[in-house]
Parts: sequence; structure tokens; C-alpha cells
Amino acid sequence: MKYAELANSGVLEQPVYEPGKPIESVAREFGLDPLKIAKLASNENPFGASPLGMAAAERAIRSIHLYPDGGCYDLREKIAEVRGVSPEAVLIGNGSNEIIELLGHAFLRPGDEVVMGAQAFIVYKLVAKLFGATPVEVPMPGFCHDVDAMLAAVTERTRLLFVASPNNPTGMANAESDLIRLAEQLPEHVIFCLDEAYAEYLEQAPDLRAAISAGRKVVCMRTFSKIYGLGGLRVGYAYGDPELIQLLQRVRQPFNVNSVAQAAATAALGDLKFLEKCRVENEAGRQFLCEGLTAMGFETHAGQANFVLSRVGNGKMIFEQLQQRGIIIRPLAPYGMPEYIRITIGTAAENAKLLAMLGELVESGVIADAR
Ligand SMILES: Cc1ncc(COP(=O)(O)O)c(C=O)c1O
Repeated sequence: MKYAELANSGVLEQPVYEPGKPIESVAREFGLDPLKIAKLASNENPFGASPLGMAAAERAIRSIHLYPDGGCYDLREKIAEVRGVSPEAVLIGNGSNEIIELLGHAFLRPGDEVVMGAQAFIVYKLVAKLFGATPVEVPMPGFCHDVDAMLAAVTERTRLLFVASPNNPTGMANAESDLIRLAEQLPEHVIFCLDEAYAEYLEQAPDLRAAISAGRKVVCMRTFSKIYGLGGLRVGYAYGDPELIQLLQRVRQPFNVNSVAQAAATAALGDLKFLEKCRVENEAGRQFLCEGLTAMGFETHAGQANFVLSRVGNGKMIFEQLQQRGIIIRPLAPYGMPEYIRITIGTAAENAKLLAMLGELVESGVIADAR
């Protein structure tokens, strides 16, 4: 008997998440100097980690012989203060990815349905499948979540509904009024999961706390992997009704978030100077990239996060060409968008290098062939 025959139903059809290619593997493959490679593939922070977060991580490393605080007391207190909620309303996860999975553990059974956008963050689909639930993918006109279409897709079997705003990989955000309407109009048996991974890049993040207090079934998720620059430490959080949060606490591992991550995230939350610098640089980079890409004739979507979307013809071919030249971006065929690439907004030097390399590809005719 082979192992596959012993596997749980669904495991064999479970797609594998394809992350952005690591710098080291591109360096090995193409014989490049890793220090000269620009990774604009995973929406990380090109300016590094919050300095306050890094200093706290260095201090915390002296105690790694001890288990972490399983309840993440300090971090939950700090998040509660910043978000204006009670600590009981906060759950810390090993990245917000873990929280998406915990929602599956707590609420999904085989045969349930999970409503999501057709070009939404792919992990929603993977988690639905993992628990034997059916992903119900709703078209996204203009690459934005369509609240009315999502409401219309809800059935008796729907348990979870995901919206990322801004969405990855499309970058589009929904108006706060749309999200509140969604929270108010969903039936009682559906939990609205609002993924705010890129909320810090918005001029004003939507506020669903009133809907939560009023008893609407809403859970919001945030991450330290983006603007705080702590992707390597894996830490994210959810906030919502304490009853929902307590259910999620039951299904997590006892020590799901390590001590270095907890310390770094607690300090990074208060690093307002760093956040402001990153926001300003990100806006300048967005404008620079969008102008450059548009000037080259590419349909480009600026979005409201830390990446832009561009239609280059054959996304995979452009990805491969750029990779050979030391730039890693993300081709979007796995999202059903084979003509598009997603480019994380980098430092000014990285953005300039990207445009220069693309310019070379246009001039040499490679891009024309890819169209
Ligand atoms: C919309 C969205 N949600 C969640 C995540 C997961 O982030 P984390 O690193 O916190 O697991 C990402 C990461 O790219 C994302 O784009």
C-alpha cells in the first residue's frame, strides 16, 4: 500500500501554495550575486524591519531557551490599546495565514461553502479545500471585490466569506461603506473575514468595530509581515468578538508564536516614525512605477497596497526574463491572470532597476514577442 492511499480525502487534490521565489534560489540558479538581486515578489517591506522591532528581537533572543508566553500577553495588550478593543478580542497567529487556517479548523466541515473573490488571496481557496469545503469564487469587476455579487453567492451552506481590502494580488480596496453594508446584510450563519494585511498603506483603514460591537459576525485580520517588515518572524493577529476569538484560541497550538516574534511585533507596533517613512516612500515608488510602466504602454493598476499590477502579455516569460537579470516579480497565472505580473514597490533604486530592465526587454523585442 502506498502513502497516497492512506491520505485524507482531499489531500491529493490540495494545490500547493507557490511562494515568491527566494533570493538564494535565484542566485544559485543563474549564478548571480544574492546581494544584487531585487526581490519584488512577496510584498515584503523593501526598507527592512522596524528598527524598534529589530532591537526588541535582539534582546529577546537571549531568552530563547524558554518557551514563549503561549497567551502572548504583552502583544495582545499592545494591539488592544492600538486597535481600541479589549485584549480578549485579540488572537495572535503564526502569520495571518495561520489565522485563516484556524478559521477553517473552527468553522468548516466537508460540504460547507466559502465565498471569496475570483482573484482574491489564494490561501482562502486552499484552506477551504483543506477542510473539504467548496470555494465559491465570485467575479471581481475592475479587480475589486463586488459586495452585491458576494451577497448573492451566499447560500445556506456558506460559513465563511473572505474579503481582502486592499486585495492581493489586485491591490484594489473596497469603500468602508461597502464593507459595513456587507457585514450588516450577511445572514447570521456566515462569518465575514476581513483581511487587512495591507490596511496600513491606506489613507484611512475601514473601521468595522461598530459592526462587531453590534453583534455582526465579523473578524478582522492584520499582519506584521508587510509594513512592519517582520515577514520572517511570522506574526499576525485577528480581532473580533471575544466569543469568536476564544473559539480560535482553542484550535491553535499551545505556543504558536515564538518569543522573538512576540517581542519584535510588540515594539514594532509603536514604531510610528518607521511606518510613516515606509508609507511616504511607498507612495512615491507607486507613482514612479505606474508612470514608467504606463509610458512603456503597459496597462497598469496602481492599487492601494505596496505593489502594482501590470499587463505585460506573457507574465511567465517576463518573470523568467527579469529573473535572469536579478529581479524577482510574481507572474499571476495561478490567479487566472496569465497576462499580468505583480510588482512589489521596492526602494527607489530597485524600482529604477526594474523599469530599466523592462525597458531593455521592450527595446530588444522580447516583450513584443510576449504580447
Ligand atoms: C491578503 C493577504 N493576507 C494574508 C497574507 C499572509 O500574511 P502572513 O505573512 O501574515 O501570513 C498575505 C501575504 O502575502 C496577504 O497578501
